[in-house]
Amino acid sequence: MRLDRFISNASDYSRSQIKHLVREGRVLINGNAANNAATVVTEDDQISVDDVLIHTPHARYLMLYKPAGVVSATKDSEHPTALDLLDEPRPEQLQIAGRLDIDTTGLLLITDDGQWNHRITSPRSQCRKTYQVEFADPLNEAMVKKFRDGLWLDGEKRRCLPADLEITGERCALLTISEGKYHQVKRMFAAIGNRVTKLHRLRVGQIELDDTLAPGEYRPLTQQEIDSVVQIS
Ligand code: URA
Repeated sequence: MRLDRFISNASDYSRSQIKHLVREGRVLINGNAANNAATVVTEDDQISVDDVLIHTPHARYLMLYKPAGVVSATKDSEHPTALDLLDEPRPEQLQIAGRLDIDTTGLLLITDDGQWNHRITSPRSQCRKTYQVEFADPLNEAMVKKFRDGLWLDGEKRRCLPADLEITGERCALLTISEGKYHQVKRMFAAIGNRVTKLHRLRVGQIELDDTLAPGEYRPLTQQEIDSVVQIS
């Protein structure tokens, strides 16, 4: 990343202050004065300002139990946002990896690692997400087959990828999808003439919502959970 970004992420210096410091020769990269704030540096480089080493903050990976009524956005003028529920420094650097509707509850992943986020949300990754769904009308096996064969959603040019629907009760099921189209689950049920009445996300890839979290609570991911999100092949 650029030197000025590296320093501003890890300190209170603004980008313009950093340019000024570079011009004055007060920023060192591996012991040599930096001559350009745009120089690309890595975490292996030793960066100092006025001989004080700048430590990179570790990337953050969080799971939040999103309650209903909270929007999956970083800013909203009307509703509380997922970021409002966090007590984290530099909240402006956090991004949501895969949004949920305001009335959907459950697992929301939040990070400041853009590449990790991309591995979850890129359509190429076909990351599997499991939802607990409640709906208005009972389902039958023919409908399960429609999900498995790939549903056509209104306004889409391609069929959905095959989805696994496991009926768990008269008006509830577990649904696993490998895409993240806008309002996808609600639109899938609409496509078979049904209606979602409650939606809760249980799992994203290998990461499961921690059942010790109450709605509105969050915790950092374990290293194993972070590493489970692998490079897109
Ligand atoms: N699909 C939906 O329709 N809503 C969500 O919040 C998530 C998936």
